[in-house]
Amino acid sequence: MDKLVIEGGTRLAGEVEVSGAKNSALPVLCAAILSAEPLTVTNVPRLQDVATTAKLLTTMGASVERAADHTMVLDCARLDRLEAPYDLVRTMRASILVLGPMVARFGRARVSLPGGCAIGQRPVDLHIKGLQALGAEISIEHGYLEARVERPGGGTRLRGAPIFMDLVSVTGTENLMMAATLAEGTTVIQNAAREPEVVELAHCLNAMGARISGAGESEVTIEGVERLHRADWRIMPDRIEAGTFLAAAAATRGELLMRGANPSHLTAVLDKLREAGARIEVSGDTIALSMPTRARAVNLRTAPYPGFATDMQAQLMALDCVAEGTSTIVETIFENRFMHALEMKRMGAQIEIDGNTAVVTGVPQLDGAAVMATDLRASASLIIAALAARGETVIDRIYHLDRGYEAIERKLSGLGAKIRRTR
Ligand code: EPZ
Repeated sequence: MDKLVIEGGTRLAGEVEVSGAKNSALPVLCAAILSAEPLTVTNVPRLQDVATTAKLLTTMGASVERAADHTMVLDCARLDRLEAPYDLVRTMRASILVLGPMVARFGRARVSLPGGCAIGQRPVDLHIKGLQALGAEISIEHGYLEARVERPGGGTRLRGAPIFMDLVSVTGTENLMMAATLAEGTTVIQNAAREPEVVELAHCLNAMGARISGAGESEVTIEGVERLHRADWRIMPDRIEAGTFLAAAAATRGELLMRGANPSHLTAVLDKLREAGARIEVSGDTIALSMPTRARAVNLRTAPYPGFATDMQAQLMALDCVAEGTSTIVETIFENRFMHALEMKRMGAQIEIDGNTAVVTGVPQLDGAAVMATDLRASASLIIAALAARGETVIDRIYHLDRGYEAIERKLSGLGAKIRRTR
């Protein structure tokens, strides 16, 4: 099992290019199911989760070609297996994103229920409730979600309807938005997620001929159409990767020039880094950060966009661990997203956990140690802690990392980090 070995104490300095966003690429690739014509996607990051999605689509009968390093051409004209099997879904929960498009285009689908994961139960009840509102019959049999549309007068087309989301759900909103594009009539999703990845998906679907308005607001309207057509789409920059590198530069009191970012997607994170004492200049698609002194502790409370992203909580906790002062971190989205804290304590961090609240007392110096990654963003936070620590850290189970960060060792080494991968 791959490990990362990191020698801490180096200040990160230099320039780094942001890759395409994982959480935008996954729904966009699944949107290809909605059309019998090709979807060409550029700036697709080379990630394990992207490879898993491509494999899932090919097992369903789609053709998926990497036309160039970061370009994919997807053709779902001959999709003939309307099933997402357990062996793939259990490795990536976002596989649930094939459900809405399959039901919309074919009137049926069989998708393995995604299990829970390290950070929480991750139910899909809101995906199910929304599809039922659109007219799908859904049953759960032998761990699979069986969906079927049988209209009273015959036909298998979903019909538009109002949908209220009990909770703000990113992939729930994405799944239902995709399903509604081909429904008969109008769908209004209330309490929709406002994440940039939801907006990008709506824009991609509109480029394919869908009629979506209001994406990015809490109420999204979708006018159903008969079919979608070919389109070209470029994946937006990954705001979480960008935030991760900015937090790493801040934790090592370094200097970073980030290129190819979208600063408007990082407002909450940049606000917190400035509060911690970072000097940040934004110009077009570049973000320049310098951290001349030790960070000041900052309090965090995760929230749906445009609030502070739960996917950045672990990374900012790593910064708080070496900051001056005491901070309170409240995780409001997932019920078990502090496992990185237990590993950081092995490095000398002072963190007290009480339910969904962590109280962090910054220490002048962490010590390198053997630690274990438990989930994707926890892996990134342990790298940040290791970079800021004295001595050597070995991070085990870094397959989590490869799901969501493209070439992270190369990018960090380019900034001066002493980091290598071993078996
Ligand atoms: C997306 O997951 C992201 N994944 C996650 O990123 C991110 O942490 C999360 O949104 C929150 O921003 C992708 O976009 C592929 P949710 P998602 O549905 O859609 C509850 C990463 O590190 N809920 O917005 O699965 C749920 O339990 C990953 O890149 C229900 O109760 O998250 C959670 O408490 C991790 N029922 C809350 O809603 C449902 O049917 C928000 O979850 C759906 C969700």
